[in-house]
Amino acid sequence: MLYTASNPEDETQHLLFHNQFISAVKYVGWKKERILAEYPDGKIIMVLPEDPKYALKKVDEIREMVDNDLGFQQAPLMCYSRTKTLLFISNDKKVVGCLIAEHIQWGYRVIEEKLPVIRSEEEKVRFERQKAWCCSTLPEPAICGISRIWVFSMMRRKKIASRMIECLRSNFIYGSYLSKEEIAFSDPTPDGKLFATQYCGTGQFLVYNFINGQNTT
Ligand code: COA
Repeated sequence: MLYTASNPEDETQHLLFHNQFISAVKYVGWKKERILAEYPDGKIIMVLPEDPKYALKKVDEIREMVDNDLGFQQAPLMCYSRTKTLLFISNDKKVVGCLIAEHIQWGYRVIEEKLPVIRSEEEKVRFERQKAWCCSTLPEPAICGISRIWVFSMMRRKKIASRMIECLRSNFIYGSYLSKEEIAFSDPTPDGKLFATQYCGTGQFLVYNFINGQNTT
């Protein structure tokens, strides 16, 4: 959070934000955890809507914090009773990643804009961050919508988001492994777009829920 240290109102807001963040990411551990994967740097657990209240409360806190971090109004979940939440828990017992997935029927393909002649990777990232995106109006069948995906800023680029999606693909529907074509991203941010392009191996991945007024073609 950006704030002016000399401004008392800003400082109070910053303290509130900081406290909310610290309390949301703290994970004490639960007796019954649904562990999907374990890694040298942490583990991924899944929380379902029928889980105990304390687990759902934690998910609510995290979702609120993630929405604040994303900094704009997020689309409400389509059908709460069918959502699946994956949390990446670090070895020091902090929630450092969160993925909320929901069932969807349709996605819309991003229309890739022609890139100008790009000289370096940094230039490509800068260009991607600046430009708006467009998507087709033609619905294509999809199964899983990624409503939110977030990784703690200090832990990014360690494949935490990639590992959460891998786990999601094998656990979203019992007994089946989703293909990348069956997944759509909700209204992607510039970071989300860069990530999805890399993960899906194409800039023409599927999106849904565009509430921010992007152009469609
Ligand atoms: N810029 C450029 N490429 C990026 C990128 C970024 N900010 N984030 C991911 N990638 C690409 C890279 O190629 C990366 O591989 P590399 O690090 O070996 O080059 C690859 O995607 C895999 O990234 P990964 O490490 O799995 O992603 P992450 O754990 O850093 O999480 C986000 C990615 C988008 C979830 C994270 O940046 C984030 O939480 N951002 C803020 C919230 C947000 O915008 N969420 C997206 C909503 S749609």
